[in-house]
Amino acid sequence: MSQHILTAVAWPYANGPRHIGHVSGFGVPSDIFSRYQRMAGNKVLMVSGTDEHGTPIQVQADKEGLTARQLADRYNRVIAEDLQALGLSYDLFTRTTTDSHYAVAQEIFKGLYDNGYVFPKTTMGAISPSTGRTLPDRYIEGTCPICGYDGARGDQCDNCGNQLDPIQLINPVSRINGETPVFVETEHFMLDLPAFAEVLGGWLQSKQGDWRPNVLKFALNLLGDLQPRAITRDLDWGVPIPLDGWRDQPNKRLYVWFDAVIGYLSASIEWARRSGDPDAWRQWWQNPDARGYYFMGKDNIVFHAEIWPALLLGYNGQGARDGRPGALGALNLPSEVVSSEFLTMEGRKFSSSRQVVIYVRDFLARYDADALRYYIAVAGPENQDTDFTWSEFLNRNNGELVAAWGNLVNRSISMAAKNFGAIPEAGDLTDADRAMLLRSREAFPKVGAELERSRFKNATNEAFDVIREANKYLAEQEPWKIKDDPERVKSILHVALQVVDDAKTLLTPILPSSSNKIHAMLGGTGVWSGMPEIKEVDEESGRQYPIITGSYEDGARWEHTPLRVGAPLAPPTPLFAKLDPKIVDEELARLGE
Ligand code: MF3
Ligand code: ZN
Repeated sequence: MSQHILTAVAWPYANGPRHIGHVSGFGVPSDIFSRYQRMAGNKVLMVSGTDEHGTPIQVQADKEGLTARQLADRYNRVIAEDLQALGLSYDLFTRTTTDSHYAVAQEIFKGLYDNGYVFPKTTMGAISPSTGRTLPDRYIEGTCPICGYDGARGDQCDNCGNQLDPIQLINPVSRINGETPVFVETEHFMLDLPAFAEVLGGWLQSKQGDWRPNVLKFALNLLGDLQPRAITRDLDWGVPIPLDGWRDQPNKRLYVWFDAVIGYLSASIEWARRSGDPDAWRQWWQNPDARGYYFMGKDNIVFHAEIWPALLLGYNGQGARDGRPGALGALNLPSEVVSSEFLTMEGRKFSSSRQVVIYVRDFLARYDADALRYYIAVAGPENQDTDFTWSEFLNRNNGELVAAWGNLVNRSISMAAKNFGAIPEAGDLTDADRAMLLRSREAFPKVGAELERSRFKNATNEAFDVIREANKYLAEQEPWKIKDDPERVKSILHVALQVVDDAKTLLTPILPSSSNKIHAMLGGTGVWSGMPEIKEVDEESGRQYPIITGSYEDGARWEHTPLRVGAPLAPPTPLFAKLDPKIVDEELARLGE
């Protein structure tokens, strides 16, 4: 039965271009998952956008001599173009500075406030003594009061994962100019997280055996110490607080993480409006059978497994204070938080400032999107921190994509094109033929089950086992040596082409561009797997911005399809570029190695 599946993809900060570490965490995994789900017949809504508020944007804008809005405009476009070039099939990739996002973020705040889960409190805020400006949490560094780690930030300790307030840090210093911040009184709104402890605990426990164990363990750990969290900031860049007496205060805004997670909902609502059916989003958010999968890197787990569910529960009126759903109605909680671990680069942490980085744009200027997608699927940080090395990239590209898969496609099609000019019919099948055909047909449920559970490495390896098997089959059958039995050659090449066609289907979620080419080479018509496009749209208030969208529903199905016997075959062009081993040294030189 067809299900509604929300693929909620973490929103990249619009404070600079994204690198391959970022897209290995949220981007490629979420796209593989979504493409598979669509092929399996489900109705997918895949949404995200750029995260444009808060101090990360403000600090970078100051550095570049721009306003926050100018900076966000610049990198929103760069990021949208890069994600589109990677083939990520968003139904809507938007941004957090739209009118509709402001309205939805404010509606969620009001719902929480009306149900009593948000309350005002006078707290101590950090300011820089030399400038008098508010010092953003994440730009204060010090020792973690919980685990003693030295490099804890004012918002979070990356060592123990706990959320912090800057005033809790031992020996706090400003990362901007090294001075010691001073703390002054300021009024803020707090989210009453302890009021959700019980219901969050029960919800997380029910995910045992379902979620990736490291994600669940991390999330359960956080429950031990739930404190009220400030959800507003002293800042002029962000969503205004929708309450009388607060709305017009120029220096009070919703906290960037509060508004960003609400983006999943506001983007779904914006998508529905743009699709011409303004209520369509409800199918993914209110239908009890709908499922929601959230994709991100592990530094985002706390916001998706604790804060976001708490906001939804509070809006629904489902915490310790009860309450009733706000004007949008009760909303679904995540079904799964699918978090990746970290990618490092040649043994070091990615760092834009130290140039230990390869941006998506630079990568795609030199290599194909499918080559990067393949690497992330088969060797990405799926369940442990993982190192990207250029030599592994080279070896996997040349050994697996080019020599195993590309070569199977190439020699099967070129032999059939040369001998018959068309897809040949099979005659009597031998046991070996039948075994080969069965092998690739049986891969569909196996690979599908792995993709369903976001186990991309297993899925890729299963599909490549079929490819390796098919190369062995051709090596054993040696159709190129058969001179006097064209019927036998036809059968062998028919079997080989059928397996090529099956494998192209199995690999479509991972390698959509090359699968589209194979579809066309084998006489397929129409679009096989839809590719995203950039569209310029108008906001209600008139501002223009680029979105990623596309139509992805037609074409590819997760099933074996019999070949179109007689379809004309042209000599194939190579699918994947073979890389010169010298790229390894060139790339290492770029990293300053
Ligand atoms: N901008 C955040 C980051 O890059 C991710 C935000 S995800 C969202 O880490 F859910 F809050 F949008
Ligand atoms: Zn800590």
